[in-house]
Amino acid sequence: MLVLGIETSCDETAASVVRDGRVALSDVISSQIEIHRRYGGVVPELASRNHVMQVMPVIDEALAKASVTIGDLDAIAVTSGPGLIGALLVGVQAAKGLAWSTAKPLVAVNHLEGHLLAIRLLEEAPEPPFLGLVVSGGHTSLFDVRAFGDYRSVGSTRDDAAGEAYDKVAKMLGLPYPGGLPIDRHAREGNPKAIAFPRAHIRGEGAECDFSFSGLKTAVRAWIERQGKPEGVALADLCASFQEAVADPLTAKAIRAAKALGHHRIVLAGGVAANSRLRSLMTERAAKAGVELFLPPVRLCTDNGAMIAVAGTHAFWRGERAGLDLAATPGWRLGTKPEARS
Ligand code: KG4
Ligand code: ZN
Repeated sequence: MLVLGIETSCDETAASVVRDGRVALSDVISSQIEIHRRYGGVVPELASRNHVMQVMPVIDEALAKASVTIGDLDAIAVTSGPGLIGALLVGVQAAKGLAWSTAKPLVAVNHLEGHLLAIRLLEEAPEPPFLGLVVSGGHTSLFDVRAFGDYRSVGSTRDDAAGEAYDKVAKMLGLPYPGGLPIDRHAREGNPKAIAFPRAHIRGEGAECDFSFSGLKTAVRAWIERQGKPEGVALADLCASFQEAVADPLTAKAIRAAKALGHHRIVLAGGVAANSRLRSLMTERAAKAGVELFLPPVRLCTDNGAMIAVAGTHAFWRGERAGLDLAATPGWRLGTKPEARS
């Protein structure tokens, strides 16, 4: 079973061929980070234009590296949401063109299902049920994963995604975009207890698994306004304290949700899952709670085509097929039909 996965939802043009939903025969990523860096964030129009230029060469390279031809494929999977509308459309149109010209089945993939199933590419891959925490530049959500294809959101951010908070704080500090890795690096030299940044306490029924990071971002801004832009040890201390204030609620709520739902496994996913403190705190707390933790390697945390091919394979096995009228759904919430926009 060979599936081509195509991903263009944000600023990576990516394609991969995956065998049997478990083995990536190729994984090609063309990143636009350098193009967007000078703007301090992704510029949607630039993203779309660059996807147009990159999508076919990236697909060709993914097929060549996997030593397969398009005729060998069993299905073509593409991210159709959530993401930037113009960026998504490029991947969707490319996939439709290939599916039409080769008469291969087309499968629509939710980007977040891709993140959750990236872990399937590891040799020791968990089977559902598990609790999934997706933390990326656009999303911070807890999912009750009862079976492949059965995803229920049990908590999410009320405002900024965790990665968005990283990127915005990095900008305030004059660090390059995307801000996650530079903050992570500075934090390694700092004291996480140096500054007592706030943790949001969200009240109300069913809200105990929700997150909020905008207050934290404001607290960092207020600190910089008072003390000036930090350098050296002060910069390291600020980064470490900020990082702790992100990792603490993410890990505490993931463990709480896993226990409440009776899950014995947690899967971490998304770009922010590459964060060293999030990984170490989650490892510590999961061990204490007696929950098994699955951490994808860093290259599978950020956007890639292989995770889309894996999710596409499972969707194919479930009998899901998209027509040539497949549309991009920028607000597609995982666990709902693509028409249900958020
Ligand atoms: O999953 P991803 O590649 O794209 C989205 O779907 O959003 O995630 C990108 C996000 C960015 O906000 C980036 O700053 C963050 O992941 N990130 C990190 C780290 N590496 C990437 N955040 C914290 N620590 C890291 N080491
Ligand atoms: Zn992503």
